[in-house]
Amino acid sequence: MAAVLAGIAAAAFWWLTRPDPLDAATLERLEALDADPARGAGVFWAGGCAACHIAADAEDTDRPVLSGGQRFDTPFGSFLAPNISPDTGHGIGGWTQAEFANAMLRGISPAGQHYYPAFPYPAYLRATLQDVADLQAFIETLPESDTANRPHDLGFPFSVRRGLGLWKRLNMDDGWVMADAPTPELERGRYLVEALAHCAECHTPRDRSGGLDRAQWMRGAPNPAGRGRIPDITPGGLGWSAEDIALYLDSGFTPTFDVAGGSMAAVVRAMARLEPADRAAIAAYLLALD
Ligand code: HEC
Ligand code: HEC
Repeated sequence: MAAVLAGIAAAAFWWLTRPDPLDAATLERLEALDADPARGAGVFWAGGCAACHIAADAEDTDRPVLSGGQRFDTPFGSFLAPNISPDTGHGIGGWTQAEFANAMLRGISPAGQHYYPAFPYPAYLRATLQDVADLQAFIETLPESDTANRPHDLGFPFSVRRGLGLWKRLNMDDGWVMADAPTPELERGRYLVEALAHCAECHTPRDRSGGLDRAQWMRGAPNPAGRGRIPDITPGGLGWSAEDIALYLDSGFTPTFDVAGGSMAAVVRAMARLEPADRAAIAAYLLALD
């Protein structure tokens, strides 16, 4: 009896944690798209990929070397960002469009395993297929690196990727948090903030499942780096004008002439490479929050 129950439990675990890749019709639409690396550069900077995927001591240039190696310490253990340069073998150079899209939109690797949400795919999953295709085309134009990936340093049970299937069932939600975006600018701001720039991953506290607490959207959160809190950026918490926010995202200067520090510094370096209209759209989104 115990063996039968254990067998049923194992089968249920296996079923509940199964990866859910993109379907054939979606992949067909993806492969029919014209991928444009120039547009992909905008997606890349909005997505902040370089912040995590360049080496810790590397320079943040317009053509970053995405060799990986940066380390993120969390309560579950340490993650090491992998090499996503276009090197075939060490990076993602040999990846098909379907493999890249499944990583970005489903958090699934070419081998069919779940990725850890330290890779912010719970936000990227809202990205359009066109942006994903353009992004991959841009990454293919960047320098190759033959740096080998190092394994994450995680304790049991977090070391078992299959278990992430349960986390994903609770936390993979592609609905918008801001239900209404009545103007094109707000719609663009919502897309940038909620899909690509993953601002909430840092600025929103997490619930007990480790997912974002949508009721506290952007209201500030403990700093995973240990010191202090990540600030509340709702209008009530921040108290800045649209110009103040756009200027901060461009220059890093606050209205009181402080400079963005900590993990926000790399975010600002990426945001500064966007079109001014995109920074204005992000500001409009933040000001439209409760
Ligand atoms: C907050 C840090 C962070 C950001 C931002 C980030 N990544 Fe990652 N990424 C990671 C980590 C950590 C992993 C490893 C996940 C795992 O092993 O489960 C990863 C894994 C990946 C992988 C899988 C690589 C492999 O070898 O299997 C791809 C592809 C990827 N990221 C692409 C991107 C792109 C493109 C962007 C920007 C749109 C991006 N990442 C932004 C941290 C980040
Ligand atoms: C990797 C984590 C991370 C991400 C992603 C992130 N932030 Fe931040 N943010 C921070 C931290 C940490 C600070 C505090 C910076 C400091 O102390 O100088 C901050 C500060 C800010 C501030 C200034 C608040 C103040 O009171 O000084 C604003 C505005 C802001 N972020 C907006 C954004 C927006 C918009 C996004 C998305 C485009 C974003 N952040 C994404 C970590 C992050």
